[in-house]
Amino acid sequence: MQAKVCPGLAPRIAAAAVLSDVIARRLPLDECLAAGAGGARIGALSQRDAALTRSIATAALRRLGTIQTVLAELLEREPPRQASQLEWILIAGAAQILFLDVPDYAAVDLAVHASRLEPKTAPYAPLVNGVLRNLIRARERILAESDPLDHDTPKWLAARWRQNYGEAEARAIASAHRDEPVLDITPLSGASIWAERLGATLLPIGSLRLRSHAKVTELPGFAEGQWLVQDAAAALPARLLRATPGMRVADFCAAPGGKTAQLAAAGATVMAIDRSAERLKKLAANLSRLNLRADIVVGDAVDLKAQLFDGILVDAPCLGTGTMRRHPDIAWTKKPNDLVALTALQARLLDKAAELVKPGGTIVYCTCSLEPEENELQISALLRRSPGLVRVPVTLPEVGGLPELLNCNGELRTLPVHLPAPEPRLAGLDGFFAARLLRAC
Ligand SMILES: C[S@@+](CC[C@H](N)C(=O)[O-])C[C@H]1O[C@@H](n2cnc3c(N)ncnc32)[C@H](O)[C@@H]1O
Repeated sequence: MQAKVCPGLAPRIAAAAVLSDVIARRLPLDECLAAGAGGARIGALSQRDAALTRSIATAALRRLGTIQTVLAELLEREPPRQASQLEWILIAGAAQILFLDVPDYAAVDLAVHASRLEPKTAPYAPLVNGVLRNLIRARERILAESDPLDHDTPKWLAARWRQNYGEAEARAIASAHRDEPVLDITPLSGASIWAERLGATLLPIGSLRLRSHAKVTELPGFAEGQWLVQDAAAALPARLLRATPGMRVADFCAAPGGKTAQLAAAGATVMAIDRSAERLKKLAANLSRLNLRADIVVGDAVDLKAQLFDGILVDAPCLGTGTMRRHPDIAWTKKPNDLVALTALQARLLDKAAELVKPGGTIVYCTCSLEPEENELQISALLRRSPGLVRVPVTLPEVGGLPELLNCNGELRTLPVHLPAPEPRLAGLDGFFAARLLRAC
């Protein structure tokens, strides 16, 4: 039966193709969902089917370790290499059976259909049927035994977090990755008015937390450019620059522009630099919706020519391990070796910021990574290289009076376990680090 005439088949095929692109080719999930993957064009799906594709893919990526462990148990031997698509069909099927509110018969039948469509996987349709039915029978045990840190976190990340945060915190971070959080919003002004209009919670750190996964573009204030979508922790670093009207600020890694918008809204004259022309188009569109402006520069911030700024924000490219609640693909697309090139680039960006900040001027460095090499260790190394820079500790009022968001050097260190709430999707923060430095001389 063809995907076109079998309801529900197209999103299952698309989800398997997306999983193959994310896990085997290490492509970012958002890119795969936007562009379509493996010939199964997401754009050609109805809105409902595209949403189901996304749900299957994200559930599978959040719990990939659990799924792979149990499939290895149930399959007597590895699927043959020429039928590699079988693996993704099975993972997509298992994600539905274990983690989504989908009838078991639909998950199994459609996985069997999907495997019959390709000559290479068709001979294994009975195997797909058998494995997924056995999985249904073992469901209670699998869910009881599944461990967020030992199964659903890659071993190298689990080892790092245990070492850097201790067993209990590492475990809590991994548990927080099980749930997709609701949206946070940064109002450009009038936070309590927008909290009321949107039925949102006003968090102690100034952002609004919506209570549901709403369609952003349809919410009041979106079209009028009154607020931007931004995790509550991501809204903190730009504020630490204490931008004021007339201040000349460089935003070194600016796109897609959340922090540029905050700086421009504070009245600063902002130069927004990014080496991705494509991502800068999004920045331009975001600023235009928010009725804000900045000088947009496509290029490598490390190559900026001599000029001085009152403030510089370096929102450096990083592993992104602080954002795994919203981007579960990061667990499987990033590898330990990626740290080598990233930390080298971060150090170059910091050196350039140290060169271009005026005496008396401020640098804020931030990442959305949980890894000390990209954060605390970058700053201590910079302070050794640049004796004219000193740390200006972040103050308690700047983090809503929450001491757990600061480390002992007065740097911002938010974690997915912060801001607990009874409902997991209403809890947590992205894992952001930020340090504030002053050029004393
Ligand atoms: C973490 S994102 C920035 C997010 C952005 N600040 C925001 O708030 O929306 C990192 C950005 O750094 C850019 N980038 C990476 N290396 C760069 C470089 N050497 N110079 C300028 N931009 C760079 C990437 O293209 C990416 O857009």
